Amino acid sequence: MSSIEVKNVVKIFGDDEQKALKLLKEGNTKEDVLEKTGMTVGVNNVSFKIKDNEIFVIMGLSGSGKSTLLRCINKLIKPTSGAIIIDDKDITKLDKKELRELRRKKFGMVFQSFSLFPFKTVLENTQFGLELLDLEKEDMEERAKESLEKVGLEGWEDKYPDELSGGMQQRVGLARALCIDPDILLMDEPFSALDPLIKKDMQDLLLEIYDDLDKTIIFITHDLDEALRLGDNIAIMKDGEIVQIGTSEEILTNSKNDYVEEFVKNVNRAQVLSAKDIMVRALELAYEVDGPNTARYKMNKNGISSIFVVGKKRELKGLVTIEDVTRILEEGETDLSTVLKQTTTVGPDTPLNEIFEDISKMDTPLPVVEDGYLRGIIVKATVLANLS
Ligand SMILES: Nc1ncnc2c1ncn2[C@@H]1O[C@H](COP(=O)(O)OP(=O)(O)O)[C@@H](O)[C@H]1O
Ligand SMILES: [Mg+2]
Repeated sequence: MSSIEVKNVVKIFGDDEQKALKLLKEGNTKEDVLEKTGMTVGVNNVSFKIKDNEIFVIMGLSGSGKSTLLRCINKLIKPTSGAIIIDDKDITKLDKKELRELRRKKFGMVFQSFSLFPFKTVLENTQFGLELLDLEKEDMEERAKESLEKVGLEGWEDKYPDELSGGMQQRVGLARALCIDPDILLMDEPFSALDPLIKKDMQDLLLEIYDDLDKTIIFITHDLDEALRLGDNIAIMKDGEIVQIGTSEEILTNSKNDYVEEFVKNVNRAQVLSAKDIMVRALELAYEVDGPNTARYKMNKNGISSIFVVGKKRELKGLVTIEDVTRILEEGETDLSTVLKQTTTVGPDTPLNEIFEDISKMDTPLPVVEDGYLRGIIVKATVLANLS
């Protein structure tokens, strides 16, 4: 773990950074600078401290400067001015060799795009970062296996990325970063591309492994829910500046300006729950190609009295009940589709009150469907619990 201090960091994109810097110092805004010089202020006079062993979240809308700030911290780009002090050393002043060392060992990076190599196995992808470290082959493999275990991918070492779901691919991305055992983990919107349920799983995984990790994490997101869930401290960025830093509680109760308040209002609106917030994963699904025996076996195993039937890609086809399936088995019928029933469905954004109306009339769970695909199911008990 490491402590990090960012001091008055400015990053300007353009051909005369110093000229734009001068304008900023004279009190011009990002907009003024763009108008007068055509140059973009990526990060504008940002300062903060991160204690070792905390999750520090940087949140802001797209274009607010989050990624640029992160790249300044891992020295992929050089700030126009300011200092970045890691463990009492200003890393903007390192020589080339020190810098290379720092990048290799100090930081682990996880990006939104999983950036896995399609023709490398899960194990090879995981140990990729180690190849620069001059280790024995067995050592590399051992470390890669260890980190795959940490992210729950034991047994997947020899698969290729396209055999994995999006969530699993991002677990490989995380394992790869953990593998080099960096002091600081930099995560740039790592879960933004994932489905809501998978996203929650990944947040849980991160919080779970974080306890044993002894690492400082900088986590970028544009999602306030995610920020509140993960962050020990949250910095909110707008137009390259930090407009507020605080704990979840501080941000929620004492929003410092309209921009932050607008974010917070959006969370409160989300607390008026919709389907995607209360859906869960179906315990088990039947596939179109399954026969009645398989369907009955799946229902019995999970103690459920009906099961949703889906196509290969989870297109919802309908549902079958244990009574119907048992009956056709007795009749010697082998085609499940003869007892397939249509069911009411809702979309991910259907609000709770509408869900309540639908589900109160049903004796099966309510499927949440988006573009024809089954995203999750809602059970009556959850709806009732959330209404009270
Ligand atoms: N390489 C670049 N060249 C010019 N402008 C850039 C470059 N990278 C980012 N910017 C600009 O800097 C600002 C911040 O971008 P970025 O850090 O990517 O925001 P975020 O990650 O919050 O979406 C934006 O106005 C963007 O257009
Ligand atoms: Mg970004």
